[in-house]
Amino acid sequence: MGSSFSLKTTERITMTTSPFQPIDSGIVPRRQLASGALIPAIGLGTFGSDHVKPDDIAAAVGTAIRGGYRLIDCAACYGNEAQIGAVFASMFGRDINRSELFVISKLWNDQHKPADVAKAARRSLRDLHLDYLNAYLVHWPFPNTHAPGARPDDRDPNSRPYIHEEYMETWAAMEKLVDEGLVCHIGTSNMTIPKLNLLLRDARIAPEMNEMELHPCFQQEELFQYCLDHGIQPIGFSPIGSPDRPDRDKTPDDFSDIAMPEILAIAQAHQIHPAVVCVKWAYQRGQIPIPFSVKPSSFMSNLAAVCADPLTPEEMASIRAVERNSRLIKGQVFCWPGSDSWLDLWDVDGTIPGQFGYATKGKNS
Ligand SMILES: NC(=O)c1ccc[n+]([C@@H]2O[C@H](COP(=O)([O-])OP(=O)(O)OC[C@H]3O[C@@H](n4cnc5c(N)ncnc54)[C@H](OP(=O)(O)O)[C@@H]3O)[C@@H](O)[C@H]2O)c1
Repeated sequence: MGSSFSLKTTERITMTTSPFQPIDSGIVPRRQLASGALIPAIGLGTFGSDHVKPDDIAAAVGTAIRGGYRLIDCAACYGNEAQIGAVFASMFGRDINRSELFVISKLWNDQHKPADVAKAARRSLRDLHLDYLNAYLVHWPFPNTHAPGARPDDRDPNSRPYIHEEYMETWAAMEKLVDEGLVCHIGTSNMTIPKLNLLLRDARIAPEMNEMELHPCFQQEELFQYCLDHGIQPIGFSPIGSPDRPDRDKTPDDFSDIAMPEILAIAQAHQIHPAVVCVKWAYQRGQIPIPFSVKPSSFMSNLAAVCADPLTPEEMASIRAVERNSRLIKGQVFCWPGSDSWLDLWDVDGTIPGQFGYATKGKNS
C-alpha cells in the first residue's frame, strides 16, 4: 500500500502518496449473521471523537464507499448522520445501490423510553436518507446520557443502574421496529454476559450482534466467546486502540496497542502500519472491526488488510499474549449517584450491581 516506517517510533511512520486505488467490494470477505444475512467483515467507524468535523467524516464515508467499503457504523449521538445521509443520497442509484450497503445506527441513551424508540429510529432514517436500517443497536444498556465533549467528571444527575425491566421495555420497542420493517436486525452494544443472559432469556427477537470494545490489549475473551456461542456477531469498536479518543477516555494506565512490541514486530515483518496489524488480527479472530479514519490512505489500508496477506498462526498467537485488560472506553460519565467506579458498569464479578455499586455491595443494597 505504498507505506514505509521505522520501528523506533510509530510517530515517524511516513506514508508515500499513492493514487487512490479502489478495492472491488466483491473480494471483501463477509460474515453470516444468525438469521443467515450477510454482513461485510469490516466497516468504517464514524465517531469523530469530538474533534473531527461531521462534513469531513461524511466526505470520508463517500470516498470509502467508492473505495469498496459496504458497512458503515453510524449512531445518532455522533452528531453527523444528516451529513452522512446527504452523501448516501447523492450516491444511491449512481455510485451504489441502497441494497449493497449495510448501515448500522444506534439508539442513544436518552431515547430508551418505548415511546421514544420509534421516533429516534425514524429520525436516524430521515437523517441518513434511508427507508430501512440494516441494523439498529441499543448504544448503551443505561438510560444515562452525556453532552458532546463531556469532561471525565461530568455526570447526568438522573443516571440509573441497569434495570432489566426497563431495558426489556426498550428492547420490545426495538423488536417492533423489526416487525414494522424499519430495521432488519437488532443488537446491543456495551453489554456484559450477565445482562445478555437476561436479554436472551426474555427477548422475542434475539440480538444478532453486540458492538463491544475489542483490540489486542483488550480482547474480552469470555464475552467474545459467549457471543459466538449464542449466535451474536461481535462488532469490534476501537480496533486500533482509539489513539485519538476524547480526553475523558484517557487514563495514565491505558496501554497503546500500536506501540506494543509484538504488534510492531509483526508490522515490520509485513511492512504495514501497526494499526493495520490490529485490523488484520481483529478480522482473523472473528470480530467485525470498524476502524475510524477520514484519511483515505488509512481507511484503504484497513480495507486491504482483510483481503490479502493474512497473519500467520504464530503471529495470531503472539497477539493473543498482548492482552492487558486495558479497557479504554470506560464509560465513567454514565455512573449513577451511588456508584463511584466505572467498574460498576461492566459487571466485573459476574453480577449486575445495583444502586450502590460494588464498593458498598451488601451494605446498602
Ligand atoms: N458502540 C460504542 O459505544 C462505540 C464506542 C467507540 C467507538 N465506536 C465505533 O467504533 C469506531 C472506531 O473506534 P474509534 O474511533 O474509537 O477508534 P479506532 O478505530 O481504534 O482508532 C481510530 C484512530 O486510528 C487511526 N487509524 C485508523 N486506521 C489507521 C491506519 N491504517 N494507519 C494509521 N492510523 C490509523 C485514525 O487516525 P487517522 O485518522 O490519522 O488515520 C484514528 O485516530 C468509531 O468511529 C465508532 O463508529 C463505537
